[in-house]
Amino acid sequence: MLLARGIPQRRPAELAAMRRAGQVVAEMHERIRAAIAPGVSTATLDGIGREVLERRGATSNFLGYHGYPAVICASPNEVIVHGIPSSDVVLDEGDIVSVDCGAVVDGWHGDAAFTAPVGSVAPEDQRLIEVAELALDAAIATMVDGGRLGDLGAAVSGVAQGAGFTVVREYTGHGIGTAMHEEPSVPNHGRAGTGLRLRAGNVLAVEPMVCAGSAVTAVLDDGWSVVTADGSRAAHTEHTVAVTDDGPEILTRL
Ligand code: MF3
Ligand code: CO
Repeated sequence: MLLARGIPQRRPAELAAMRRAGQVVAEMHERIRAAIAPGVSTATLDGIGREVLERRGATSNFLGYHGYPAVICASPNEVIVHGIPSSDVVLDEGDIVSVDCGAVVDGWHGDAAFTAPVGSVAPEDQRLIEVAELALDAAIATMVDGGRLGDLGAAVSGVAQGAGFTVVREYTGHGIGTAMHEEPSVPNHGRAGTGLRLRAGNVLAVEPMVCAGSAVTAVLDDGWSVVTADGSRAAHTEHTVAVTDDGPEILTRL
């Protein structure tokens, strides 16, 4: 017999725990965003993340994940995702930096990312960041009961490509719950009206990765940093979002 497969539908108490994890991630974002400036190292940003986790009694889902050495990812310029924080990586005026944060509370996970300018940046870089934010908004808007994953992917790629940018295909969003990465995979491209159907109680980490040039990726020798193969800049935005009867609820926003 074939069992109907779907994305887990979280109960209210489970959603409440995911909301708590999400709020820790949101505070990490707020504190780290405020610290981003020329001359600041990405190790300093990681330290802020650790401080928030500790103060809130949360644990890191990044630290130790397949040996990952930090609680955030900090990905400057052509690094799309998974940049390892380092005291040797010092942000410069005109850079952009993507910051990905996660937290675990009572066994439930949150995961979210933003991209920020460092000082004043070129208009094209500002637009790249804004388009990645708009792509995330468009993705979230599709997360209603009865919506489909193809709608979500089509929304992301529609916004990004409509602005003249590209979307990464080799990395995707994901289900999230008692693990950071659960089924299903949530691609940033797709065909509207196709794919898995969303139901109230489903929770996904949706994460557009938008590139200024080609979306072909490569991994650096550190084994983690995912960069654009052509060296063009990239922006990454992500929220952990629940489908509810009243529409999408962003768990990782204050
Ligand atoms: N949070 C990332 C994601 O969005 C994964 C981070 S991998 C880690 O899926 F090793 F840094 F934890
Ligand atoms: Co994620």
